[in-house]
Amino acid sequence: MNASGIDHAADPLDSVSVVVPTYKEVDSLPHLLDRLRALRESGVALDVLIMDDDSRDGTEALVAARAEPWVQLVVRTQDRGLSPSVLDGLQRAEGDVLIVMDADLSHPPERIPSMIEALREGSDLVIGSRYVEGGTTSHDWGFGRWLNSRVATLLARPFTHVADPMSGFIALRRSTFRSGRDFNPVGYKIGLELIVKCGCKRVGEIPIHFENRKFGESKLSLREQLKYLQHLRRLAIHKYGTWSHFTQFAAVGALGALANLALLTAFLRLGVPASWAVASAIAVTMVFNFVLNRRFSFSYARGGSIVRHFFGFVAACSLGALVNYALTLTLMQPPIGASPQIAALAGIAAGSLLNFLTNRYLVFRQEHVRP
Ligand code: GDD
Ligand code: MN
Repeated sequence: MNASGIDHAADPLDSVSVVVPTYKEVDSLPHLLDRLRALRESGVALDVLIMDDDSRDGTEALVAARAEPWVQLVVRTQDRGLSPSVLDGLQRAEGDVLIVMDADLSHPPERIPSMIEALREGSDLVIGSRYVEGGTTSHDWGFGRWLNSRVATLLARPFTHVADPMSGFIALRRSTFRSGRDFNPVGYKIGLELIVKCGCKRVGEIPIHFENRKFGESKLSLREQLKYLQHLRRLAIHKYGTWSHFTQFAAVGALGALANLALLTAFLRLGVPASWAVASAIAVTMVFNFVLNRRFSFSYARGGSIVRHFFGFVAACSLGALVNYALTLTLMQPPIGASPQIAALAGIAAGSLLNFLTNRYLVFRQEHVRP
């Protein structure tokens, strides 16, 4: 047993399946397959699964012509995309060790033996990493791509502290993969998905030189990058459960408070009488918070009636406000006699917590999940 509670001792690591997602990589594939064959000839018992999203660029003819029994091509016509292809390949793979790598020669296959060695030494998952000591990228990486990669890495911090969680060059045991639950193939970051969903605590990193692609072009679009945010949110829900709902609820609350102040200021500037300005700012903010909370914090309940949700939300918030009011006044009075600000902070905390709990468990109930 190791730190993750995964018992690796019984696992042999004799055979290796390399899963390669491809879309229009016919020019790179011969080079990749040659290098993988050299690895085989040096004694690594590997087979290759090319998961091609129906590229129609001659990939099928190429693989057929090479007629290498250890190379299998799967042409996919449904559920396309990088992560779905990789997950599909990992499910089909039969090796003791599973490798995921790009086809465009960015990931050096020659590093695979070191990655397997790291698994032997007890890692749950191993990354071919650009950002550990000894890892490099080609010089012509523009500032834009570098910054992008760094920001994305920073956003992954709540889930893993590895240096290069964005890497698509990964090794893990088949048994580790099979122990994973609730895979959600959104976007590009399959490594991060595997680390979180397979519960990998000991993640090793082997330095690689990340080569720029020479043939074909990258498929990483802005749309894929936006999907990364959606992916992060789903990982948070998976990992932190109710805490992630609470965090989203708190973020919406903070945004709502800002919106409230902005609206109030605007109404007053427009000459709206104070009592009306305050009341309408509250009303608008309440609708604003409701919409965001229903869309994000409690998205699991979106199948339920919006009318019922709305009135439930208003009732829950009013109850929260009442508790806030009562507690603040109580704390200000003897015997406690707290300062109004301290009392108000405690009131806000209690009111918000109650607000969250009633919304989470009474208004936006789990059984409203759409089947
Ligand atoms: N089956 C399938 N379907 N494969 C795809 C698809 C798809 O929709 N889109 C891309 N691929 C394949 C490509 O053919 C390539 O083998 C690999 O996935 C990576 O795609 P690239 O287009 O080369 O993307 P990249 O170089 O920008 O992204 C790489 O680096 C990122 C970090 O900088 C990948 O390794 C990513 O996983 C990694 O996050
Ligand atoms: Mn690439």
